[in-house]
Amino acid sequence: MTATQTPATNLDPWTQPLETLDPSEGTLYQRGLLHEYMRRLRREDPVHWSPTGPTGGYWSVTRFDDIVAIDSNHQVFSSDRDITVGDAPEDFAPRNFIAADPPVHDAQRKSVTPAVAPHRLVELEALIRERTAGVLDSLPRGETFDWVDKVSIELTTQFLATLFDFPWEDRRLLPYWSDVTTSTEQVGNTTFPAEERERILMECLGYFTKLWTERAAAPPKFDFLSLMAHNPETRDMVDNPLEFLGNLMLLIVGGNDTTRNSMSGGVIFMHDNPAEFAKLKANPALAASAVPEIIRYQSPVAHMRRTALEDFEFGGRHIRKGERVVMWYVSGNRDESVIERPDDFIIDRTRPRHHVAFGFGIHRCMGNRAAELQLRILWEEIVKRFPKGIEVVGEPERGVSNFILGITKLPVRIAA
Ligand code: HEM
Repeated sequence: MTATQTPATNLDPWTQPLETLDPSEGTLYQRGLLHEYMRRLRREDPVHWSPTGPTGGYWSVTRFDDIVAIDSNHQVFSSDRDITVGDAPEDFAPRNFIAADPPVHDAQRKSVTPAVAPHRLVELEALIRERTAGVLDSLPRGETFDWVDKVSIELTTQFLATLFDFPWEDRRLLPYWSDVTTSTEQVGNTTFPAEERERILMECLGYFTKLWTERAAAPPKFDFLSLMAHNPETRDMVDNPLEFLGNLMLLIVGGNDTTRNSMSGGVIFMHDNPAEFAKLKANPALAASAVPEIIRYQSPVAHMRRTALEDFEFGGRHIRKGERVVMWYVSGNRDESVIERPDDFIIDRTRPRHHVAFGFGIHRCMGNRAAELQLRILWEEIVKRFPKGIEVVGEPERGVSNFILGITKLPVRIAA
């Protein structure tokens, strides 16, 4: 909460005056209110101006087609510098390619894409399956444990460690640095105060700088660091420490929170919808369409933000040059005019990939196929082993953020 946001006394989305509705309040998801905020905005004010916000006023775009239109128009709606609803502080704003426009964006994205290219994923599939099986086989039976820690964090961390070729014994540093990165006032989560956050991230930079130096001196490989260190467009990045750190933060968070929260969300959705789990059990090939449905339904990245480079008429509203424009993917994914029965979890939809959870346009998620692969393998291996599914035995705990919609604890039990 900052000076521009006043403590909300009434958070009820339907009784507040429309003009005061501010969906960037960081606790809405935790309190189970975010979807209702979005429903009201989609219905009554699909291009909505909130004068408050973490660092000032911003537009909310909540309908599917409008999100696609803004995300596709990078000439007018820039990613330069900030991609969350609030601006990063002046004194510490590491740069990276998700928060950049062409040509910087294109060159840097291209340098790391081979780590998750289709042929590389084919090579990695057997390894991911073996590790997933190992983690699932090690789970306790007939007793309560936290699925987030034992499965979602462990599996996404193992995969990310592979993409970075990161020292295996230190791999839990990755989710730790991810949590530090996503803890900012701008997203409404201050678990790590700004100074401590900066100190920890500089440690992360120090750790990775050593790895970079080793990779630069060795023959090229397919991990993120080696790819950047050997690419003519990015090989000097290490000399610009804040840009190097920014890209590390992007790759760490990109491959971490997102898939992790989809792994946890999927368990809740299957538990709440036993008929859908029964369909999957009867036909495990449905994992291919269950996975995009899980991702749509969870929408782990709630929004991306752009900045208007010029005045622009949109949806009957006048967006002025310099204004913040937030695309709420979490809302587009429940837009009843585009997705049939959007509030239902249905694993055999005819167009399961018709969602905006991965964004759209030139910044569309670089790791989308990698994420789908990890989740598909997870569900294929779950149905093989646990015919009764995973029982959720307590209230899931949800994180505080207007950006990452996360599940921090999920007590479950697997039948003995
Ligand atoms: C369910 C899992 C995931 C979801 C929902 C997700 C979502 C997103 C979204 C919404 C964007 C921004 C799109 C836009 O601005 O149009 C994005 C970008 C990105 N994602 Fe993901 N992501 C996931 C998994 C991953 C994984 C596994 C990786 C890495 C291995 C990754 C790496 C990235 C990167 C590098 C970008 C920046 C792309 C660019 O700016 O060109 N993501 N992701």
